[in-house]
Amino acid sequence: MKVLQERIRQEGLILSETVLKVDSFLNHQVDTQLALAIGQEFARIFAGRPITKVLTVEASGIQFAMAAGIALNVPFIYAKKKKAVTLAEDVYSAEVHSFTRQETYRISISRKYLGPEDRVLIVDDFLATGAALVGLTDIVAEAGAELVGVGCVIEKSFQEGRGLLEQRGVEVHALARIAEMAPGFVRFVEENAVHAE
Ligand code: G4P
Repeated sequence: MKVLQERIRQEGLILSETVLKVDSFLNHQVDTQLALAIGQEFARIFAGRPITKVLTVEASGIQFAMAAGIALNVPFIYAKKKKAVTLAEDVYSAEVHSFTRQETYRISISRKYLGPEDRVLIVDDFLATGAALVGLTDIVAEAGAELVGVGCVIEKSFQEGRGLLEQRGVEVHALARIAEMAPGFVRFVEENAVHAE
């Protein structure tokens, strides 16, 4: 998605070879029109596939899951990271180990909102190590629902997330795929090197 790549070049703060901050338009302050366009792009990519629910995990995936839900005219669900007050048997849950944050936590969603009749599109902001996304695919499997695919806004292709998901037979689409980066420099997949600033 060209407009997204341009914003990453113009406003992305590349803190190291592995960490990209996009707080001015995606992750903290959100460009609402861009978020809606991202949702439409996911809907275009998965057009003709019978999706019934969009699924993400709080917090930063929510605005893109909502935008995709609007474009596809279906509800979205976000998995919660805080321990639910509901009984354990009322939720599907999965353990996620965040390599970036060096912590393990559980994500959960109510059994009321996902079941074998559902066909699910998973959406998230970043595809990095894939830990959270693998947890979401576990939840879809536990629910007996069909996983249509995964849509990510930004993929750091040099990390293992895509490989992990593809090993599980998951179809993955990312709107901006970063092949390599360093402070002041970003190169997208299938592009020649372009300087960030
Ligand atoms: P992931 O690939 O499944 O997202 O897992 P990982 O453990 O690698 O990432 C941990 C968290 O850090 C995730 O957010 C992920 O979106 C975020 N993240 C990973 N790489 C980057 C990066 O380069 N830049 C930014 N801005 N974020 C990154 P999370 O735990 O789901 O938290 P939340 O922010 O959504 O609440």
